[in-house]
Amino acid sequence: MEVSRVIAAVLGLQFGDEGKGKITDFLSGMFQVAVRFNGGGNAGHTVVANGKTYKFHLIPSGSLRCETVVLGNGMVIDPHGLAEEMDKLTTSGCSSHIIISKMAHVVTPMHKILDTKEESVRSKLSIGTTAQGIGPTYEDKYARTGIRMVDLLSRDTLMEKVETIYRMKESLLASTEFSRKENREAMVDELYRVGQRLTPFLEYTELEIFRQYRKGKSILFEGAQGTMLDIDFGMYPFVTSSNALAGALSLGAGFPFRKVDYVIGVAKAYMSKVGSGPFPTELEETQAARLRDLGHEFGTTTGRPRRVGWLDIPMLRYSIMMNDVDALAVTRLDTLGQMDKIRICTAYRKDGKEIDYIPRSFQEFSGVEMDYMDMEPWGKLAQPEGGYTFSALPAALRKYVEKVEELLDIPVDIISLGEGRENTIVRDTSVLNSQAPDTREHDPIP
Ligand code: IMO
Ligand code: MG
Repeated sequence: MEVSRVIAAVLGLQFGDEGKGKITDFLSGMFQVAVRFNGGGNAGHTVVANGKTYKFHLIPSGSLRCETVVLGNGMVIDPHGLAEEMDKLTTSGCSSHIIISKMAHVVTPMHKILDTKEESVRSKLSIGTTAQGIGPTYEDKYARTGIRMVDLLSRDTLMEKVETIYRMKESLLASTEFSRKENREAMVDELYRVGQRLTPFLEYTELEIFRQYRKGKSILFEGAQGTMLDIDFGMYPFVTSSNALAGALSLGAGFPFRKVDYVIGVAKAYMSKVGSGPFPTELEETQAARLRDLGHEFGTTTGRPRRVGWLDIPMLRYSIMMNDVDALAVTRLDTLGQMDKIRICTAYRKDGKEIDYIPRSFQEFSGVEMDYMDMEPWGKLAQPEGGYTFSALPAALRKYVEKVEELLDIPVDIISLGEGRENTIVRDTSVLNSQAPDTREHDPIP
């Protein structure tokens, strides 16, 4: 029997906020299973479908259309936040079957306070985290004191673990509400209560993913964050506390990477970043303010203004290599075109010589210069009746896309020109035309 399923991954190639939510939702119509495998409430994925805006932090953006939705073991989950998101999804008429890994780690209110406390200790080296408790929860995971989703089922286990974490982190927590045992007990009661609610959804999700795979279902793995926020390969220490590279899906969901057919890299047509750390192509403030306003570049999770910069080709080249990307989805071209001047960074130079690596420390960055290429702006796009087509786009925009393809030697298969599924052009339909059955009839959104 011919196997018709497609196993694909959608990943961010920059500093996060590339538009993964939109691209994932767009593609999800041809997949039956959506899987998140890393991060937690630090992710902020916006999906606009049929005129309604959905903001997801924990639930995969493919949830609106996929039958089965998986929150993998590699995630760190605030169970209260998750319960709220699940409610919102149900209210919106979505009936996907959600399953949560028993082995995913639990973010508690204590971890969120620890996140803020750790930032103040870091002082000059503060990261500008989203204060969602991500770092402290992964710390506990690797210290082997972490609370897993399955632990929510036992109040005693929860209390033991909370007390252990408290003892380990007492120096940071002594000045907080959690120094009082009754407050820790109250937190445990709340966690236990929400755990009762989530019990029916807890599974060994890796087994379910395999079951779906054996049934021939198409599976979409959705990355959170981006390559430059990856704990190993990003701009350490200004990174998140998990891996964001494609390979992370194997460990964060328990699915062998060799079975992944297709990797789609999402890149914004310019760059944005929240938090501190090196940002080679960052714009000076006047221009940055303009681009930030045009693109409404304020964090989905924190509301913070995002730093913005020109497209960084050397960085993308690295991300494409590290994730083994097959094709790009480029977002926000509608925004970029409205700048008076547009540039692309084409190379990094040190002592006049081009370098083939991305420096990963401030010291290494000193003396590095960027080569830029000027591109022609294409202005505000008029939305044609019947939707966009590539050939009808302004010549300057097409040239930008073709230049990106030429510099990176990879096809830009998907172009996003605004929120909403309709503002998307698929240039090469190889992935969409694969023999995977179209599940659009399952679309639960009215
Ligand atoms: P999505 O999935 C943008 C950034 C934070 C901070 C650093 C560490 O929407 O692309 P953390 O709270 O993870 O300890 O913060 O990483 N960061 C993100 N920036 N988009 C995200 O997710 C991010 N997740 C983390 O701003 O600089
Ligand atoms: Mg974000």
